[in-house]
Amino acid sequence: MRVLGIETSCDETGIAIYDDEQGLMSHALYSQVKLHADYGGVVPELASRDHVRKLVPLVREALAEANIDPSTLDGIAYTAGPGLIGALLVGACAGRSLAYAWGIPAVAVHHMEGHLLAPMLEDTPPEFPFVALLVSGGHTMLVRVDGIGQYQVLGESIDDAAGEAFDKTAKLMGLDYPGGPLLAKLAAQGQPGRFKFPRPMCDRPGLEFSFSGLKTFAANTIAAEGEAALPDIARAFEDAVVDTLAIKCRRALEETGLKRLVVAGGVSANVHLRAQLAELMKKQGGEVFYPRPEFCTDNGAMIAYAGLQRLKAGESQPLLVKGYPRWPLDTLSAPGQASTPEA
Ligand code: KG4
Ligand code: ZN
Repeated sequence: MRVLGIETSCDETGIAIYDDEQGLMSHALYSQVKLHADYGGVVPELASRDHVRKLVPLVREALAEANIDPSTLDGIAYTAGPGLIGALLVGACAGRSLAYAWGIPAVAVHHMEGHLLAPMLEDTPPEFPFVALLVSGGHTMLVRVDGIGQYQVLGESIDDAAGEAFDKTAKLMGLDYPGGPLLAKLAAQGQPGRFKFPRPMCDRPGLEFSFSGLKTFAANTIAAEGEAALPDIARAFEDAVVDTLAIKCRRALEETGLKRLVVAGGVSANVHLRAQLAELMKKQGGEVFYPRPEFCTDNGAMIAYAGLQRLKAGESQPLLVKGYPRWPLDTLSAPGQASTPEA
């Protein structure tokens, strides 16, 4: 089976072609980062309009790179949620329409299911069950994954996502958007341990996260210490986020008794986080899995892969263009039973 994947939930247009015999045949990505940089964050209407501009050329590019004719496609998978409604509708509309025109089925994919399954595109994919830590600009969650569509959300952020906290704190430091990688770079020049930030919600049981307090803590420290202390403050902030994520991962592994950890989402690019999780897994006698860096962030390949599993089990969407800005991950079911919210 061969599937075209379409991702447009936020500020990346991602298109890919995945074949379950040949693997990933091509992928194309356009990031809108520059478009939104002046505004310090994603502007939803600009995002939607840019997806409209980029989507069809990227589909052409992916077909050309794979060197295939659309008539060899067996289905289309598009991200139907969660995400920005306008952006989602661009992908849903294009995906559903192309599938109609080409006479093939279309399936709605949950964006976080895409992230969860992204490591399956690698040469040594994790076996089920595993714990997944999803850390992006929009989400921070720990999920127990027993199989495709079998997800138990163990904990998530009650306020800012980890990436969002990085971005907001970076903004306080005068860094450009998205500030996460820039803050990490600044932190590398900082002296560890000069400032001690709290590890939010680690002093009580549970797997929930809260990161908005760290941003306030950073604001107060910047006000008290001034510009010269920025690298040290960045280091203290990064250490607090990384420690908190690692502490909750350890708890999730202990509570579930599982030994495999999957980490995905933009923040998983963070070098300190990777080092700390490697150390944790060594102690636990387990293994950590990451998608390749380009598939840690939003992309079409993960959507094509996830959609193929569902199309193969006979799932498809009716002739309806719909997006689901909020769509709880644990309402999904195993492939073969339509998983969209109204089903
Ligand atoms: O998954 P992603 O590309 O987009 C979504 O939010 O869906 O994640 C982007 C987030 C941004 O908040 C960015 O600042 C953060 O990932 N990020 C990082 C690093 N690289 C990207 N945060 C900390 N350290 C990094 N090295
Ligand atoms: Zn994402």
